[in-house]
Amino acid sequence: MFHNNGKLYAFDESSLPYELDPETLNTIGLSHLELDPDLNIVYNAHPKTDGGNGDWCHFGNSFVRNTSLRITIFDSLGKLKFQRKVESPQYVYLHDWFVTEKHLVFNLHPAHVNIFGFLSGQRSLIDSMEWNPDQGNLIMVLNRDGRGDPIFAPKLRFLYETGSGDEPGWLLTQVYNGHTRKTFMAILDADQLENGPVCTIHNTHHVPISFYGWWKGVS
Ligand SMILES: [Fe+2]
Repeated sequence: MFHNNGKLYAFDESSLPYELDPETLNTIGLSHLELDPDLNIVYNAHPKTDGGNGDWCHFGNSFVRNTSLRITIFDSLGKLKFQRKVESPQYVYLHDWFVTEKHLVFNLHPAHVNIFGFLSGQRSLIDSMEWNPDQGNLIMVLNRDGRGDPIFAPKLRFLYETGSGDEPGWLLTQVYNGHTRKTFMAILDADQLENGPVCTIHNTHHVPISFYGWWKGVS
């Protein structure tokens, strides 16, 4: 759920969002975010809002043909800054990303999703994923203004959900402890992930998995 410029949207992972009435939560309908439907843009459920200039940054890809990524960025007033398609050099799995002040960063995983078993209800999404470690991860970095060619760099690590990143700075993520059944927030030095968290903040309860939500203040 994302509230932007007075409108409330519910995103899926590789399609168009639904617009909802922000007061009644009634479904208004499928939304193209006021862009031309012929652009065939897809969105995933992990847009980022720039806390500085208010940019609303989106990427989208398809599990079926996810070698190309769609990147769409709106300014704080909802005006399109740019949208472009970027081809990945290999079949990758991608779920979440980082937006920094100057760059868009994607961790492209060497995983293949056998979507048909998942869509037919035969297998869970996790069971439909095939991990190809020999291929290695690829980090893709693109300029925030959308111009220029993306830069690719190999990296070994699997990352499912990103919190918020900085360059250089801190990485924040939620961790669910299956033994205590509680969730804690971990803060890591972005340059020294291998050292583990420098700080953990413990909840007295769990945060439900697949926690996608939006808090809105009462005005
Ligand atoms: Fe997600």
